[in-house]
Amino acid sequence: MAQLWGGRFTKETDKLVYNFNASIAFDQKFYRQDIEGSIAHVTMLGKQGILTEEETQAIIKCLKEILSDVGEGRLAITDEYEDIHSFVEANLIDRLGDTGKKLHTGRSRNDQVALDMRLYTRNEVLHTDALLAELLETILHIMDENTETIMPGFTHLQKAQPITLAHHMGAYFEMFKRDRLRLHDIYERMNYCPLGSGALAGTTYPLDREYTAKLLGFYGPTLNSMDGVSDRDYLIEFLSACATIMMHLSRFSEEVIIWNSNEYQFVEIDDAYSTGSSIMPQKKNPDIAELVRGKTGRVYGALMSLLTTMKGIPLAYNKDMQEDKELSFDAMDTVKGCIALFNGMLATMKFNKERMRASANGGFTNATDAADYLVNHGVPFRDAHGIVGQIVLYCIDKGIAIDDMSLEELKAISPVFEEDIYEAISMETCVNKRLTVGAPSKEAMEKVIAAEKAYLAEEWSPLS
Ligand code: ARG
Repeated sequence: MAQLWGGRFTKETDKLVYNFNASIAFDQKFYRQDIEGSIAHVTMLGKQGILTEEETQAIIKCLKEILSDVGEGRLAITDEYEDIHSFVEANLIDRLGDTGKKLHTGRSRNDQVALDMRLYTRNEVLHTDALLAELLETILHIMDENTETIMPGFTHLQKAQPITLAHHMGAYFEMFKRDRLRLHDIYERMNYCPLGSGALAGTTYPLDREYTAKLLGFYGPTLNSMDGVSDRDYLIEFLSACATIMMHLSRFSEEVIIWNSNEYQFVEIDDAYSTGSSIMPQKKNPDIAELVRGKTGRVYGALMSLLTTMKGIPLAYNKDMQEDKELSFDAMDTVKGCIALFNGMLATMKFNKERMRASANGGFTNATDAADYLVNHGVPFRDAHGIVGQIVLYCIDKGIAIDDMSLEELKAISPVFEEDIYEAISMETCVNKRLTVGAPSKEAMEKVIAAEKAYLAEEWSPLS
């Protein structure tokens, strides 16, 4: 049992207590950030004359060796250490002797872990953002190719009005674009360095916190040391953004599952992204979409867990906060995996344009436009709504679409109808007359697609 704090204790820690307390099993995930933070800290100690130049250089060199030894598998992180901080420090002391013992000058594990978690999360924010950018590329590509692919738009999962596949995909584009904006926003707010907060009250050493902040790519130091060690807002914000990403992916998955069903057959998921059944030879299941939908719960769970952990914590650091890690790591890995898998599934999915078109034709999706036709010929909207209602009933009875009725049949219900009704209620007219910003017409969609292409072309980069 290797721990950093034996001095004031007269007994060994009980083994169960030790295990319950230890975090090495999961905080080893940020060994890299822990060492990078230590290098910045010790560089600053040297600059401030708190350590000599030789001590500083020796510690930095050794920390870099530990980093590459772990990275290249020469040094294993084992559970004989309480946490990753102890692991790194113990290895440093093993290699450097007394000089190694100076690393922790002017630092506490409280500001150290606050830094490590923030550095790790900051990286995850960027990775997640990059994966979302790739997903947006895929969606935009589908949009670009399908401005004329007519399909039914639904409300209440009932066919409502014709739209295009480009338009439907465009809705998801907007969702994931907002998700990226949320991540950028979180990045800007979280990018302040807690190192130098000490245990809770700063330190008596003349630390240069601006300097370490700069070395580690932060905008500056955090401005209250109690908050510095105990703030996990950024993590809650990120988990909240992750939960929203999962909610969007889950909705999209639900649609893919419905569209891929035997009844709809709007899409066919590529063989590489589907699985079979061990008993039913005919099955080809949308497992990836189902798993993404299913994994949404655990990401929500991580958010709820951390909110609950944090709600009872008095200032400043309390050990409860060690619970910020496992579920957060799981959530971060889950979200990245889901975005990447979903993107692969979407990019290889085939859209059955004929089925979509036939489905739009068959569902009275042009009924609103038939009513609008009457309105344009002087019939008050409420009366027009009633007339088209009668037409729909007539068609249901006969098992036909409005377009299949003869002009005589239409005129029998309202004499206002003329030959141009067929043109007025064709799927193409229904879609392409909808010209307002955000509407499905080819013309409106092309403007949106051009704007989104420009948005994707401009790389987001953090303030410097
Ligand atoms: N493993 C701890 C955590 O994750 C590190 C900080 C320990 N600080 C302390 N005062 N025991 O929060």
